[in-house]
Amino acid sequence: MTKRVLYLIACAAGPTQYIDEGIRQAKGCGWDTCLILTPSAFRWWEPRLGELEELTGHRVRSQYKLPGERDALPKADAMLVAPLSCTSLNKWGNGIADTVALGLVSEGVHLGVPVAAMPYFNRAQAAQPAVARSIADLRAQGVLYLDGPKGYESHAPKQGSPQSYPWHIAFDAVDVMTQGAGAGPRGVG
Ligand SMILES: Cc1cc2nc3c(=O)[nH]c(=O)nc-3n(C[C@H](O)[C@H](O)[C@H](O)COP(=O)(O)O)c2cc1C
Repeated sequence: MTKRVLYLIACAAGPTQYIDEGIRQAKGCGWDTCLILTPSAFRWWEPRLGELEELTGHRVRSQYKLPGERDALPKADAMLVAPLSCTSLNKWGNGIADTVALGLVSEGVHLGVPVAAMPYFNRAQAAQPAVARSIADLRAQGVLYLDGPKGYESHAPKQGSPQSYPWHIAFDAVDVMTQGAGAGPRGVG
């Protein structure tokens, strides 16, 4: 049986320094895992990109394709944005998809692909009025947004612990979200 494909999409937020751990956990949950980084997150990993490609067995994408360029990744059965930065949350909520990371999920959720997102930003960032609006807009579109006690609860400024990001909560939620979704449409690539 072919493995289900998960697009793990990571923004330039603290836990992305440990995205290799996120990939290991996704693979441990049985996902054929493809990694997509925002351009800012790509800069963090650029010197060690080979490690991530070896771990996933796929190219790491961070840029939109050129016109006529072929898909580099298999079609997605589910997508998880983790960690989701405050900036990407607000762009996504406002329909701005200027990174392939956001383009995939903005479109994917309206093509019937299960999409989840777990944030990582501090309470000062979370206090911006745009944040609550963006979260409500994503939920209204059908995105499973994992915050509060059932996801990631924003930390006090300067007191984050990106190494302790609860990846397992996100992967458990994606598992639940995709149960019975096997007969649905295949994703976008
Ligand atoms: C070292 C470093 C750590 C950062 N950590 C976070 C973070 O944990 N959460 C967050 O929302 N933004 C964080 N930022 C700010 C984002 O990287 C910035 O808003 C960026 O524009 C996000 O772009 P992206 O969402 O396209 O990756 C951090 C920036 C730096 C330089």
